[in-house]
Amino acid sequence: RKPLKVALLGCGVVGSAVARLMTEQAGELAARVGVPLELAGIAVRRPNRHTDVPAELLTTDAEALVTREDIDLVVEVIGGIEPVRSLLLAALKSGKSVVSANKALLAEDGATLHAAAAANGVDLYYEAAVAGAIPLLRPLRESLAGDRITRVMGIVNGTTNFILSRMTSTGAGFAEALAEATALGYAEADPTADIDGFDAAAKAAILAGLAFHTRVTAADVYREGISAVTAADVASASAMGCTVKLLAICERTSSDGEAAVAVRVHPAMIPTSHPLAGVGDAFNAVFVEAEAAGSLMFYGRGAGGEPTASAVLGDLVAVARNRVSGSRGAGESAYADLVIQPMGEV
Ligand code: HSE
Repeated sequence: RKPLKVALLGCGVVGSAVARLMTEQAGELAARVGVPLELAGIAVRRPNRHTDVPAELLTTDAEALVTREDIDLVVEVIGGIEPVRSLLLAALKSGKSVVSANKALLAEDGATLHAAAAANGVDLYYEAAVAGAIPLLRPLRESLAGDRITRVMGIVNGTTNFILSRMTSTGAGFAEALAEATALGYAEADPTADIDGFDAAAKAAILAGLAFHTRVTAADVYREGISAVTAADVASASAMGCTVKLLAICERTSSDGEAAVAVRVHPAMIPTSHPLAGVGDAFNAVFVEAEAAGSLMFYGRGAGGEPTASAVLGDLVAVARNRVSGSRGAGESAYADLVIQPMGEV
């Protein structure tokens, strides 16, 4: 049967893992989708830097690629707001389903992208945007759609979790632990988005929006990073039987009797007996509490090329299956405009 053609935007750590796994697992993916998935173009800034993918697939013209008539599906792993927002809107408007790993964009302007997907009858999936390999967004969007979620709380940034874990296990100060995270390739050259909580805040906004069927943007999230956490803070937490973690907390609350939502990211002391206390290295873990389901915990690798590529490929299979069956997956819920109280009841 006729293959579905895939355009890949970006070919860094995640993109090159996606391209490689698409090739290595082509037979299995085709069997799962029902038709082959063909990588038909890869948009990059500097083609001569990408020797690990077929040169004839590379282009610097992302705009032409996303609207190319033969392309069915677009996978975006570039990151950042522009030019990606314009590219994805162009793709959706020309009838392509989109898979994105872009937490910053989804947290800032997910509503516009969802509206464009709905208007054009195509899919917008972004499992890789939050907690890498861990299946979390589709469980919130689909498996728990019949329940009422009351709280989502967890560790959603691997870099800061690595730093705090090192500070806890070795007694190192913040700067020393950060240098180690950088040397091991966990922290970015500019680690501000991780350290100051922007990365976790974007992820918290996406989680809260899906969990509570409302719109939350990164700017709605109370945010405090970890740069002020000292070795002495970590030591006194230990003396109290606690460990310091950067938590993202999304809660259903009420404000003057009206349903409301509170979303915040900040360092917190948690008892060492709590399952989140044992989440070390660059791992992520998220608790979801729902009225009927009770407590659920999601745990795994939240960053890295292959784990993130796993989530991207899962989405790619899902949108491809929908394309084959002529259906659409879950879009944005009919949303309630809930009051947002950044700090909730503290
Ligand atoms: N910088 C992020 C982290 C990568 O450390 O978790 C995954 O989004």
